Amino acid sequence: MRFVLFGRYRPEQNALARDIFSRNGRNSRDFRFACSEDYWALLTDDDDRILAECTLSSERGLFSDRVQAYCICDVFVPEQYRGNQYAVALILNVMYELEPAESTTSFYLHAYRRNRSAIRCYRKIFGEPKHIGRRLVTFASNPSRSWLFQLLS
Ligand SMILES: CC(C)(COP(=O)(O)OP(=O)(O)OC[C@H]1O[C@@H](n2cnc3c(N)ncnc32)[C@H](O)[C@@H]1OP(=O)(O)O)[C@@H](O)C(=O)NCCC(=O)NCCS
Repeated sequence: MRFVLFGRYRPEQNALARDIFSRNGRNSRDFRFACSEDYWALLTDDDDRILAECTLSSERGLFSDRVQAYCICDVFVPEQYRGNQYAVALILNVMYELEPAESTTSFYLHAYRRNRSAIRCYRKIFGEPKHIGRRLVTFASNPSRSWLFQLLS
């Protein structure tokens, strides 16, 4: 499996991502859009088939450029690959890559209450939701690297 993180703040991975996109039948408009996002993450198999993907936007402080939080969006696993924890693997890799040591940066995401697969998936990463609203369930985390290391090893 391969993990690729690219987009506005990771342009050095753009050529690799473009190649993976075209192998997966994505058009160049799709690719331009991906590069304009703060981050776009892909998990592929050894033949470069996309198993899971998501986007991220970073929220920076009002008076500093430091990232305070990352919002994880558009998590998607093609139907034929669902149920293999690929989204879990993708999100853990994203957090591992973007979380500097000793950081207080948090990650969060929302799922519709009716989206049971998503909620079951995110529980595995974040535990119980931080908030359950009428329509949306919010998960959030402020992970320490130590447990990420254990999960990724
Ligand atoms: C939500 C989603 C990203 C989860 O990805 P995943 O890699 O399949 O996640 P997991 O393997 O952890 O499975 C999560 C749950 O999905 C359900 N599931 C298992 N196989 C499934 C399948 N073939 N089809 C649909 N759901 C399935 C199970 O309830 C599973 O929970 P369990 O492992 O406790 O049994 C994926 O279902 C998806 O892309 N859905 C469509 C887009 C979407 O809703 N994105 C989320 C937006 S918030």
